[in-house]
Amino acid sequence: MTATNSAPKKVLMFGVTGLIGQYIFQEIYNAQSSFEKIGFFTSKSTATNKPDEVNGWKEKGVEVIVGDVNSEDDVAKAYEGYDTVISALGRNAILSQIPLIKIAEASSSINFFYPSEYGTDIEYNASSADEKPHQLKLQVRKYIRENVKKLKVTYLVTGPYSDLYFGKSSEPQAGTFDVKAKKATLLGTGEEKISFTTEKDVGRLLVAALKTPTTEHQRILKVNSFTVTSKEVLAEFEKQTGAKWEVSYTPIDVLKKAEKEAWEKDSPVKTVYTLRRIWNEGGTLYEESDNGKIGFKGTETVEEQIRKIIKKQS
Ligand SMILES: NC(=O)c1ccc[n+]([C@@H]2O[C@H](COP(=O)([O-])OP(=O)(O)OC[C@H]3O[C@@H](n4cnc5c(N)ncnc54)[C@H](OP(=O)(O)O)[C@@H]3O)[C@@H](O)[C@H]2O)c1
Repeated sequence: MTATNSAPKKVLMFGVTGLIGQYIFQEIYNAQSSFEKIGFFTSKSTATNKPDEVNGWKEKGVEVIVGDVNSEDDVAKAYEGYDTVISALGRNAILSQIPLIKIAEASSSINFFYPSEYGTDIEYNASSADEKPHQLKLQVRKYIRENVKKLKVTYLVTGPYSDLYFGKSSEPQAGTFDVKAKKATLLGTGEEKISFTTEKDVGRLLVAALKTPTTEHQRILKVNSFTVTSKEVLAEFEKQTGAKWEVSYTPIDVLKKAEKEAWEKDSPVKTVYTLRRIWNEGGTLYEESDNGKIGFKGTETVEEQIRKIIKKQS
C-alpha cells in the first residue's frame, strides 16, 4: 500500500470561494502541517471577480488552479499530483460532481472523495427520499453506490449551521433572531430539539475526518457542535443582551402552508422552508454523534456561537 492509499496527503478542494468552502479550506490551511500539499480549483469568473481572495491564498503558498469544472480535461489535469478531492460546490452545481467523481475514479492518483453535503441527512428516514431539496444529492449518492469501486467516499452530514439559524432572517416567518430589534420568531413550539454545527466546526470536523482515513468505501459521518431548542437559544440571547425579547411563533402547520405556497410560487426561499420544517420535525437527531469516531472534541458552544452573532449584528 502506498502512502497516498493510506491517508489523505495531497488535498484538492472545489468550492473554496463559497459560503461553507471558505471555512473548510481555512481549517485545511490551519492543519497544513498534516498534509504534503493543498490546493483548490476555482472558476475563471471567481478568479476575476474575487482577485484578492484568490491571490491571498496563492501568496500563502496554496496551489490555485483556474479552470472550468465542467471540462473533463481541466479536471483530469487538476487531479494530477493529488490523492484527495473535497467538494463544497453550491446547490446549483451538485450534479457537476458526477463527472468529477467519474474522473476521480479513473484517475491514477485520487483515492479519497468528499462530496458536497455538509447539511441535512438526506437519508434520515423513508420520507427523506421524497424531500425536494434532497433530490440532487440523492442522485450523487446513487451514482457513487452504483459506480464507484476504487474511491473511498466520505459524506460529512452536519445538520444546519447555527450561524445561519440563529441569525436575522429576511423571511421572519421561517424563524429569526434579530439582535438589534430584540425580536425573535420561533418555529413550532420553540421546544423542538435541533442538532447544529457551527460553520467553523464544519471545517474542523472535516479536517478531523481527513486525519482519520477510512477503509470503508462509503463512510457517512453524522457530526455536530451541539443540540439545543429555540427557546434555549432565545434564553441565551436574552442573557447575553441583558434584555427580554419580543417573541412570536410560527406553528408547524403554518410553516407547512408557507412551504407549500413557496414551492407553488417557485419562491427563492422554498428550500429554506422545507429544510427548516425537516429540522423542526426532528430530522437532525441521533442517539449519538459520530464526532468520537474521528476523535473530535471541543466543539464550539451555544454561548460562543451567540456571542459571535451578537457581535456580527451589532
Ligand atoms: N447546513 C446548512 O445550513 C447549509 C447551508 C448552506 C449550504 N449548505 C451545503 O453546503 C454545500 C455548499 O454550499 P454553499 O452554499 O457553501 O455553496 P455556494 O456558496 O453556493 O457555492 C460554492 C462554490 O461552488 C462554485 N459554484 C457555485 N455555483 C456553481 C455552478 N453553477 N457551477 C460551477 N461551480 C459553481 C463556486 O466556486 P468557484 O467559482 O470558486 O469554483 C462557489 O463559490 C452544499 O452542499 C449545500 O447544500 C448547507
